[in-house]
Amino acid sequence: MNDGKAQAWSWFSTGPALAWSDGEGTRHPARRPPPEPSHRRNIMANWAVWVGSVRKGSYNAAIARALAELAPAGTSIDILPSVAQFPIYDADLQAEGFPAVVEDTGARIAKADGLIIVTPEYNYSVPGGLKNAIDWVSRLPGKPVAGKPVLIQSASQGVLGGARAQYHLRQILVFLDGRVFNVPEVMVGKVQTLVEDGSLTDAGTRDFIAGQLKAFSAFAESFKK
Ligand SMILES: Cc1cc2nc3c(=O)[nH]c(=O)nc-3n(C[C@H](O)[C@H](O)[C@H](O)COP(=O)(O)O)c2cc1C
Repeated sequence: MNDGKAQAWSWFSTGPALAWSDGEGTRHPARRPPPEPSHRRNIMANWAVWVGSVRKGSYNAAIARALAELAPAGTSIDILPSVAQFPIYDADLQAEGFPAVVEDTGARIAKADGLIIVTPEYNYSVPGGLKNAIDWVSRLPGKPVAGKPVLIQSASQGVLGGARAQYHLRQILVFLDGRVFNVPEVMVGKVQTLVEDGSLTDAGTRDFIAGQLKAFSAFAESFKK
């Protein structure tokens, strides 16, 4: 029942069942976003995906790789260069010219219909490597993130699924002037139980992410009008 209060969608990590919280600690059975209107099906869109972890066995990278299968038909996914390729931000280096990886990433974000950031949480915040890469892109004259629909996803081996990193990331994206999608939120907790051999295999998680991507697709489309 919708009593008119703001509701946050969350993924709870204790099993495949989905639930949402009403902000007062009460869990309710899952409800999925409404079905997509027929005129929105078969949208041709290109989403750029940035991963906040650089390690080979990254669970966040596993989720990023699954997005191509879970996104609405007609969506192409462009996995952006690893944040490990970005030098530490240095205004003196910038004065000599932006590094090629910064220019390339900015151009790919600029031409995308949406930007998805999939990241772990480090020490209750955004991993330093991702923050550094964002700092570089934020200095590009074309401001590639400004006005861009942005979706945040996070995964962690703890129970909160990187929630605190998401809210710090939202704060950072204010200055970049991104249009950050709100709900449903995807915060994948205990992700190590949901990924096998580098693939996101858990059916409930895949379903929930697919529902979020449908909703994000409609959100991103609304900026084209
Ligand atoms: C430096 C560091 C700090 C971390 N801090 C947190 C944290 O604040 N919250 C959390 O849920 N997990 C934290 N973790 C655990 C990560 O969620 C876990 O290592 C996760 O698997 C990293 O994502 P990845 O698999 O995509 O590399 C931390 C890990 C590292 C290396």
